[in-house]
Amino acid sequence: MSKKITIAIDGFSSTGKSTVAKRLAKELNYVYVDTGAMYRAVTLYMMRKVFVSDGSFDEEAIIRHLPFINLKFHFNEDLGFGEMYLNAENVEKEIRYMEVSNQVSKVAAVPQVRKMLVEQQKEMGKDKGVIMDGRDIGTVVFPDAELKIFMTASTEERATRRFDELKSRGDEVEYEEVLKNVKDRDFVDSTREDSPLRKAEDAVEIDTSGISVEEVYQKMLHLAKDRIDS
Ligand code: DC
Repeated sequence: MSKKITIAIDGFSSTGKSTVAKRLAKELNYVYVDTGAMYRAVTLYMMRKVFVSDGSFDEEAIIRHLPFINLKFHFNEDLGFGEMYLNAENVEKEIRYMEVSNQVSKVAAVPQVRKMLVEQQKEMGKDKGVIMDGRDIGTVVFPDAELKIFMTASTEERATRRFDELKSRGDEVEYEEVLKNVKDRDFVDSTREDSPLRKAEDAVEIDTSGISVEEVYQKMLHLAKDRIDS
């Protein structure tokens, strides 16, 4: 039997991380964990319980509510990946709405939120055979991962991908709004004090601008097989 490894995929939003990660997990029979979904679910909970109407929040209140949050991925056979459940409610769709995207970076910057989620992520990946995508997987969650990938793409290309994705789901959004959200999140995610988005020194960088999903997937599959066989 071939050895099981840990694959950490980090990078900016809408670089195609989750699309290729899901496919790779299926091919390798690995568990896929979308850590962005976890930050999104916590944000949704806080928007319901803690945020005031102008979108501001009290950090202390966020910390107080954390023990009441239970997150679980339930594998959906038809979709081929785990859907996010927040306190037993399927929130997979709702966490992708623009309202949540506009708030998530602020909540993800709260150190206690990160501490709680990082602990859960470490637990989920402790037996290896896992592909985890996010912003701090290769730097903080699994600094010893056998394969680390850092994905990038131009801001405009990422905004276009996100816009097309939202539109195809029937969401009423403007391209300018999506572009602004992508830029704002890049800024907050890469300048926050706790675990900012950055490439781990030993990560392989893949720039997905102008290359097909198939090409990116093949590149990653090749890298993964190489590490599994070494
Ligand atoms: O991958 P995504 O776009 O769904 O992530 C949503 C947000 O969650 C992103 O703006 C930053 C945050 N995030 C994070 O801080 N750390 C992670 N490991 C994953 C996501």
